[in-house]
Amino acid sequence: MPKRPPKSSPKPSPAAKPTNGKRSAKDAQLEPHRESPDGQFLTTDQGLRVASTDDSLKAGERGPTLLEDFHLREKIMRFDHERIPERVVHARGAAAHGHFQVYESLSRWTKAAFLNDTAVKTPVFVRFSTVVGSRGSADTVRDVRGFAVKFYTSEGNFDLVGNNMPVFFIQDGIKFPDLVHAVKPNPRTEMPQAASAHDSFWDFVSLTPETAHMVMWVMSDRAIPRSYRMMDGFGVHTFRLIDAAGKARLVKWHWKPLLGAHALVWEEAQQIAGKDADYHRRDLFEAIEAGQPAEYELGLQIVDEADALKYGFDMLDATKLLPEELVPIERVGKLTLDRNPTNFFAEVEQVAYCVGNVVPGIDFTNDPLLQARLFSYLDTQITRLGGPNFAELPINRPIAPVHNNQHDGFARQTINGGAANYLPNSIAEGFP
Ligand code: HEM
Repeated sequence: MPKRPPKSSPKPSPAAKPTNGKRSAKDAQLEPHRESPDGQFLTTDQGLRVASTDDSLKAGERGPTLLEDFHLREKIMRFDHERIPERVVHARGAAAHGHFQVYESLSRWTKAAFLNDTAVKTPVFVRFSTVVGSRGSADTVRDVRGFAVKFYTSEGNFDLVGNNMPVFFIQDGIKFPDLVHAVKPNPRTEMPQAASAHDSFWDFVSLTPETAHMVMWVMSDRAIPRSYRMMDGFGVHTFRLIDAAGKARLVKWHWKPLLGAHALVWEEAQQIAGKDADYHRRDLFEAIEAGQPAEYELGLQIVDEADALKYGFDMLDATKLLPEELVPIERVGKLTLDRNPTNFFAEVEQVAYCVGNVVPGIDFTNDPLLQARLFSYLDTQITRLGGPNFAELPINRPIAPVHNNQHDGFARQTINGGAANYLPNSIAEGFP
């Protein structure tokens, strides 16, 4: 026992007796990356118990402060580095854990294991977001909403990184930086915050005719959803599903909220933005805390590859939608969000979605917007998350085992065994 109780830390509860350097029983029950401070002594990052965190170490009564105070140095250093860059778009978001399950096997279209077995409950982490505003901006602004789903499947992670509108502003990803510069705040004044309808946006879209369809959606009620629980989701691009025989079909992904899709009235949205900037974030969190999961059905529109041009437009063009009257949506499974994150930063901020994360049975198309996205997400995350090892962060780690020769780099967490870190090799019998 310490000689004197920690000055500003809670008293250890009887259940959490000092562990004398051993991992506490409570921590041992948790996954290695989870930590529970309840009833525990305050320590440094090196695991050393700290008796006082309120006064720096001084030479004499009135100082100066001694540089050798390692706790002071560590505490201030850690504080100084708490911020990471916010996402270049979709900076403002809220997320929840849950699971996904298919109603019947989709083996007639895809060999993806998680879509083949009705008994499989695939864990998911879903992040909803606005696109334009900074991390601290209001929720109920007029904007597109992100609907990003990470499926932790037995065959690796599949990320369905969609929006709440079925089309997009542009056809070719090379225009994306221009679109975002135009819709983000003015570079001189950084105004207006989180607003899509302003001068530079109108300037850009008036000179870019392919934006017309998406502008209709952004100026509609879809751009002011009432709740993340009452919002559609769309994969937007045409993807491909591949069956066990290798046959490919085109697919459009849809999410349909079981509560139905509802919007706010514009006046209402503006007032709420002033009164409760966290309106959507709070709604999702509180509903889940109250035991009301957010539920959506996955819908698919399936088209034979040979029919890609049959409907009078190119299915690889993300400014067009595939009318439900022509190809009905088949509802194939259910997404349930029923657990809030434990730590906003570690989960909601550090999650890294990428359209390039697919599993066998799901594939890309030549949509030039999709192709640009395949590069962009991984690239931006190297800056945002400080190096190439972000797939090892707890929220990004697949449940499927990872074995490869990618190693080293800042903040590597895995301790890789094995003598051969190259392929082909003979000394490790050709593994991994
Ligand atoms: C070429 C066009 C596009 C490019 C270059 C692009 C790029 C980006 C980038 C750099 C991020 C930040 C990612 C991060 O820091 O982790 C992002 C986020 C996101 N994008 Fe895109 N994007 C494009 C089009 C789209 C489209 C068409 C959609 C919807 C289908 C979309 C949906 C999202 C979503 C939902 C997020 C937020 C993910 C999250 O919650 O973390 N983007 N995008």
